[in-house]
Amino acid sequence: MELDREDELVLSGEFGDTARMMMEMLVALGKVFGAERMVPIRSAQVSGASYKTIGKYGLEWLNTLKARVAVPTVLNPVGMDRERWREMGISPGFAKKQAEVINAYDRLGVRLECTCTPYYNSITQFGDHIAWSESSAVAYANSVIGARTNREGGPGALAAAVIGKTPFYGLHIIGNRKPGLVFTVDGDAGQDTAWYGALGYLAGKEAGNRIPYFRGIRPGRDQMKALGAAMAASGAVALFHIEGITPDARVFSYDTEHLETIHIGQEAIRSVFSDIPVDAVAIGCPHCSQDELSTAARLLRGKKVKIPVLIFTSGTVKTASKGDVETIERSGARVFTDTCMVVSPCMDNFRAIMVNSGKAFAYVPNMCGALARIGTIRECIDIATA
Ligand code: F3S
Repeated sequence: MELDREDELVLSGEFGDTARMMMEMLVALGKVFGAERMVPIRSAQVSGASYKTIGKYGLEWLNTLKARVAVPTVLNPVGMDRERWREMGISPGFAKKQAEVINAYDRLGVRLECTCTPYYNSITQFGDHIAWSESSAVAYANSVIGARTNREGGPGALAAAVIGKTPFYGLHIIGNRKPGLVFTVDGDAGQDTAWYGALGYLAGKEAGNRIPYFRGIRPGRDQMKALGAAMAASGAVALFHIEGITPDARVFSYDTEHLETIHIGQEAIRSVFSDIPVDAVAIGCPHCSQDELSTAARLLRGKKVKIPVLIFTSGTVKTASKGDVETIERSGARVFTDTCMVVSPCMDNFRAIMVNSGKAFAYVPNMCGALARIGTIRECIDIATA
C-alpha cells in the first residue's frame, strides 16, 4: 500500500501512540481489502457509542486513546437522551457509564451530535469521500447523496477520523458501485415510509451484500431513508440505486440487462404487516426528519396516548421542530434525542413493540427481546390512542 511521507511519519510514532495505532489499523484494513492508497475524507461518523453495545471493555479502550479527530466527526446514537434519561427509565448506573463513554469521545474532539442521520445536520455532497459507520447512514450517504463510504466498523471510522483518511477500496471506487441485481416493484404511489421499510426488509434478504437497482418506484427522501435502512438491516446493503432518482443512477448509465431480476409485489409487501397486540410504539428509526415529526404532530394533535409512544430524533432536528415537539408531547408521547429504541435499554421491558421502520422491525426482536410489528405512522398513532 502506497503511503505518503506524512502517513509514514504517523506510522513511525512521530505523532504519538494513538495516531500510530490508528494508522496501523487503517493500513491493516487497506491490506485486507487490497487498497493501493489512502484517500482524504470530509467527515466521519462513529458507531459503538451506546454503553449497551460497547460495554465495559470498549469504554476501557476508549479511555486509553490520546488524540484529536482531524475531520468533523459525529457519534451514532447513544444509550439514552443525555438530558432526559430519567424519563426514559434509564438506571443511574447505566447513565454514569454512558456519560463516561460520551466524555471519552468528547476528549477526542468528536462532536456530541449522537445521530444516525448526520446528513440533516451537516453538508455532505455528491462525490465526497467519508468514513461513516452506522449502516442506514452509510446507505443514505452512498445512495441518496452520492457520497462515497464503506460500511465502517466503529474503530475503523474512529481511526479514519483521527488520521483524516481512509483506505481507498470498496465503495470509494466508482467501478465498484455498479448494481448487482434488479428489483422491479409496482404500486408505490403515495405509500407511507413503513411500506418502503417493508419493501427494504424483503429486498435486503434477497440482495445480501449485492447492490440493488430498483425500477418502478418513485420515493421521496424519507422513503429512501427507510428503504436503505431496512435493506442494511435484513441484508448488508450499503448502496442502492433507483432508476431516474438516485444520483449515481442518473450520472452513470448502468447496464442492467444481464442482471438477475426479482419482482416484489404488493402481496409480499403487505405480508410483512401484521396485527399482533402491542404494548408500546417506537417511531424514528432512522431518526425522524422535520417532516416526519410534523406528520406525527398532525396525527397526535388533540389526542392522548394510552400506551408509551417514544419518538427518536437528533438534537438539531428537535430544536428546529419546537412547535411540533410540543404538540406531540401534549399527547403524552415523548420525543427523545441522542438515542433510539434499539441502542437504548429503554425498550427492553416491553412484550411487543409497534414500529414504522423496516430496520427496527428486523432489530427489535434480538436487541430488545420483544415481538415487532410494523405499521404506517397513522396506524402506529391509531393503535396508541385507541
Ligand atoms: Fe438509527 Fe437506531 Fe435505527 S441507530 S437506524 S434509530 S437502530
